[in-house]
Amino acid sequence: MNTVDLINKKQAGGELTTGEIQYLIDGYTYSKIPDYQIAALLMAIYFQGMTHRETIDLVRIMVESGKTAHHNQSPFVKVDKHSTGGVGDKVSLLVAPIAASQGVPVPMISGRGLGHTGGTLDKLESIPGFSTRLSLRAFEIQVAEIGCALIGQTDEIVPADQKMYALRDVTATVRSIPLITSSILSKKIAEGVDALLLDVKFGSGAVFQSLEGARQLAGNLVRIGTESGLEVRALLTDMSQPLGQAVGNWIEVRECLDIMTGKAAPDDLVKISLAQAAIMLILGKKAVDYDEGLKIARQAVESGAALNKFVEIAKCQQADTSYLENPDKYTAPAYQKDITADDDAYIANVDALTVGLAAVELGAGRRRKEDSIDYTAGIYLHKKRGDRVAKGDILATLYTSMEEINQPILSSVSDAFRFSKEPPASQPLIVSELSVEGEKHWNH
Ligand code: URA
Repeated sequence: MNTVDLINKKQAGGELTTGEIQYLIDGYTYSKIPDYQIAALLMAIYFQGMTHRETIDLVRIMVESGKTAHHNQSPFVKVDKHSTGGVGDKVSLLVAPIAASQGVPVPMISGRGLGHTGGTLDKLESIPGFSTRLSLRAFEIQVAEIGCALIGQTDEIVPADQKMYALRDVTATVRSIPLITSSILSKKIAEGVDALLLDVKFGSGAVFQSLEGARQLAGNLVRIGTESGLEVRALLTDMSQPLGQAVGNWIEVRECLDIMTGKAAPDDLVKISLAQAAIMLILGKKAVDYDEGLKIARQAVESGAALNKFVEIAKCQQADTSYLENPDKYTAPAYQKDITADDDAYIANVDALTVGLAAVELGAGRRRKEDSIDYTAGIYLHKKRGDRVAKGDILATLYTSMEEINQPILSSVSDAFRFSKEPPASQPLIVSELSVEGEKHWNH
């Protein structure tokens, strides 16, 4: 087979055969096909899409690029949750320990930051020593022993996604339904789960900004996930402003610690995290309905069980847990600057995309594949949609250790804040829930 012919075929809107997809993915995984050719192929898929059959093949071939985890010794339903990506989206760091602390095994393979959206792996690796690169065997043992392991793709587990994910990040090919579907589902199938909750975001900070685009993605994920043997539910959730108040890596871990220790509780973040934990508990057969799931999830946080589980996971993955017990010990960022309100007003919105891009500029994300992350970098939002501010109030604090914070970044974060004279209309955080049975309006 000839790679250029296959790129041409997809570019012209043709359907790749199973053998052709296998040739391309194996060739890339084993470095026989270079980055630049796969970048061209990804762009062709971005514009031409893939048929249902091609996407199913792509998911399977990506899973088979590595090994699959087996948790046969566990009689329980293994459940995971995955987000399509957002700004300040640290929900996985909360729901994994909540669900695992209540007896639901959570074998979680996550990703790094993609574009302006943050990644669970980068957030975890901001904890000194935390290793997200476990062997398959170590992953299986940890899930059996403590009910949860939080890892990334490796040369052993979905290596095809490891390479393609990083390449898509820097070639503007993230926003593609078949590529997102195959990336997410290949990881979830390889990790050995039985059931999956997907948080599919819409709004400026989401990969698909329109609700309709997100709905199509959610429908595709539910359909292909179900056909691949998983019980799948998906929530459509708002990402027009960042979740919680912290955007970055360590700053987000810290926000989760504050919630798990009862020190602070940003409404939107707590609400969406408890809702997702409740659904994971239902999927894991530990709650009979949403109200019971919510009650158990809330108790797991309030009793300290979620925090203890998070520390236990971190310890097993070689983290220096003294930073979790005493977060003030963390190296302070070298530079920080505030932006303030020019007038008295209500905050109408804080644009998630603008904040996400500014966080990347500060060093919290990557602009090129080989960029390293400044874990101290980020943005803390003191005010969010609906808050009343007075002239001079601090709206946000920017942090970095890379270089003095310049005026263009300060201006861009200022521009993320939209003001109104009247309180803005409230917007639902969770719009609906999808499953094989269809879409249901969210009324909890
Ligand atoms: N999360 C993933 O794992 N892959 C994507 O492509 C997008 C979000």
